Amino acid sequence: MQATVIYEDGDHRWIMFGRDPNKSEGIIDTNQYLIQSGDQAILLDPGGIELFAPMLSAVLKFVPTEKITHLFASHQDPDIISSLGLWDQALPNAKLYSPWLWESFIRHFGMERIEFCAIPDEGQTISLGRIQLQFMPAHYLHSPGNFHVYDPKAKILMSGEIGGYIENNEASLYVDNMTSHMQKMRKFHQRWLPSNEAKQDWIRRVRQLDVDIMAPQHGCLFQNQQVSEFLNWLEELPVGIAVR
Ligand SMILES: [Fe+2]
Ligand SMILES: [Fe+2]
Repeated sequence: MQATVIYEDGDHRWIMFGRDPNKSEGIIDTNQYLIQSGDQAILLDPGGIELFAPMLSAVLKFVPTEKITHLFASHQDPDIISSLGLWDQALPNAKLYSPWLWESFIRHFGMERIEFCAIPDEGQTISLGRIQLQFMPAHYLHSPGNFHVYDPKAKILMSGEIGGYIENNEASLYVDNMTSHMQKMRKFHQRWLPSNEAKQDWIRRVRQLDVDIMAPQHGCLFQNQQVSEFLNWLEELPVGIAVR
């Protein structure tokens, strides 16, 4: 499991985990993120049950388990949060923030100690150490109850499945060629996003944010002008297409 610090200032830092060379065949590669500030830390989309062991050992190089105080699951999928039952045993002080819509489903992954904090449909802002994080509504992108995470200080938007593409382990951290990357992302977005209306509403809201890095749950990250290029591309892309 590779770990890369993608942002750091005096108050907090972001670490991305992924590109696991020991990942078994047939399992999709995912990006997990840790934000650490003061005595607190949050794991964003901590991942599948199969990568819990390498994730835990990678995360422990940055923070001890008692300082992982928050988990966040953008939605209910197994590649997002099927590791929950194991984190539940490992973390003595954590609570899980997740869409209210999915509470009774996510509990099937197992949680006895961790407290479930239901994010309302309109989103919510939380404090983490010395910073604030915004859970931004991203419903129907792709899940009907879904949130992204915006960090206004770091200007990072963790965009869940949006901007995702299933890369191999050798993929670069950032997109290096937008033209070919847009081609590669096309089918994933057309199939997995069900609603053009939800997509356009999300684009309108993201354009009002100051975003230096857009960090999806799969594949390469976008930086600087690549973010607006991505939004322009997505705006023109018809979605909700399974069979032509
Ligand atoms: Fe998903
Ligand atoms: Fe995913």
